[in-house]
Amino acid sequence: MPILTWETKGSPEPIKSELIQDSIIYPGGFGYPSQEPENHLILGDNIPIMSALMTDYEGKIDLIYADPPFFSNRRYKTRIGRGEDSRRPSEWQLGEGYTDHWENIESYLDMLYPRLVLMYQLLSSTGTLYLHLDWHAVHYAKLLLDELFGVDRFLNEIIWTYHGPSPIRSAFKRKHDTILIYTKSKDYTFNADAVRIPYNSNTVKTFASSSKAGFGKAPDLKRGKVPEDWWYFPVVARLHNERTGYPTQKPEGLLERIIRASSNPGDLVADFFCGSGTAPVIAARLGRKFIASDLKWRAIYTTISRCIGLDISPISLKIEQRMKIPRTQVPADNYLSFSSNVKRFSIRPEVYDNLDYWEVDPNWDGRLFRSAIQAKRPKRKGKLLGQIDLSGWDGDKAIRFVRLNGEQVQTEIKKNYTSVR
Ligand SMILES: C[S@@+](CC[C@H](N)C(=O)[O-])C[C@H]1O[C@@H](n2cnc3c(N)ncnc32)[C@H](O)[C@@H]1O
Repeated sequence: MPILTWETKGSPEPIKSELIQDSIIYPGGFGYPSQEPENHLILGDNIPIMSALMTDYEGKIDLIYADPPFFSNRRYKTRIGRGEDSRRPSEWQLGEGYTDHWENIESYLDMLYPRLVLMYQLLSSTGTLYLHLDWHAVHYAKLLLDELFGVDRFLNEIIWTYHGPSPIRSAFKRKHDTILIYTKSKDYTFNADAVRIPYNSNTVKTFASSSKAGFGKAPDLKRGKVPEDWWYFPVVARLHNERTGYPTQKPEGLLERIIRASSNPGDLVADFFCGSGTAPVIAARLGRKFIASDLKWRAIYTTISRCIGLDISPISLKIEQRMKIPRTQVPADNYLSFSSNVKRFSIRPEVYDNLDYWEVDPNWDGRLFRSAIQAKRPKRKGKLLGQIDLSGWDGDKAIRFVRLNGEQVQTEIKKNYTSVR
């Protein structure tokens, strides 16, 4: 079997790393339920993160979706604020997104290969990996996955097609991504019935007029068909409700199909390049547990803000020890209204530049921030809520603000306010 080699190719040295607990988020806003978080969101480089997870999760993850940088040689920006409408530039600004910039293909493969090795180790014996790339590097990656999983474990090459404008005039427009699917063994989950789609109207018409049409058995038109290996989903565009402003966000429909096909409710789904969090959000919505990570605070907080309001199990937020936490002071204005026996907690959102959401720990233990009640910037219309109802809580309290502003996500935990204005 041909093997792809290059001078610096190597497996990762095991990295000793620790994941530090930052906080726990209860996205449904229903307080502190007794159960432990089943979902994990981790800030940091995914090599030390996956190495640290190995003790508890080696051979335990049922489905991994990997959507790494594509070798596109671009530096992506994020749209911050109510950034859906480019006709209203006052409502958004550009901030740092993530970098997909490499000296050459070798340095890109030096990033990708060791991470694929770790993902392979974390996958359960019945697990599946989806690797999402495009024409820039997918053909190199195919050889790496053949080497790791074995050629026989290659399940599908999915072509995800979409439309969109393109400046290209000297070649065909490049409007598809490629998703490679590999299974760890012959025994894997594939829920064909969970992803059936309607037959197209021509097929329905043909078989309605003659059941003998086609080559063999008449299809069960009511049950629908298992999709082909080419999928059409529109890209997440400006006016889509699901849009977060995070660059290269993938459509929810795409992830829904992947997660339904290759996992079952209660399974563990991981995405170590989670970006805006499409995979973890959909996994949680479909009753799966998740582990997700990203190098960027902005990605982590975008993922959290998408989870807020969903009735899902709590999320444990951890930080890989080498990451510095950018904590910046919020303006020292006395806009907080707080005392341990007040029934309401209020802020004036307008004094915060681009405050994305704020959250309260209504029973602060002086140590771990537990975000039990959140106010999130609504989509498109409406203002961020300025008041949070605290009736029923009479312990100490802490508040955290998250602003997706400028080049950094800024967070600040404020505690034990007694002053009011
Ligand atoms: C293509 S985007 C993922 C988009 C995501 N699937 C979505 O739907 O929003 C790739 C992500 O990988 C992250 N990333 C790049 N290198 C990483 C690393 N070494 N460890 C963890 N995350 C990394 C980037 O910050 C970026 O958010």
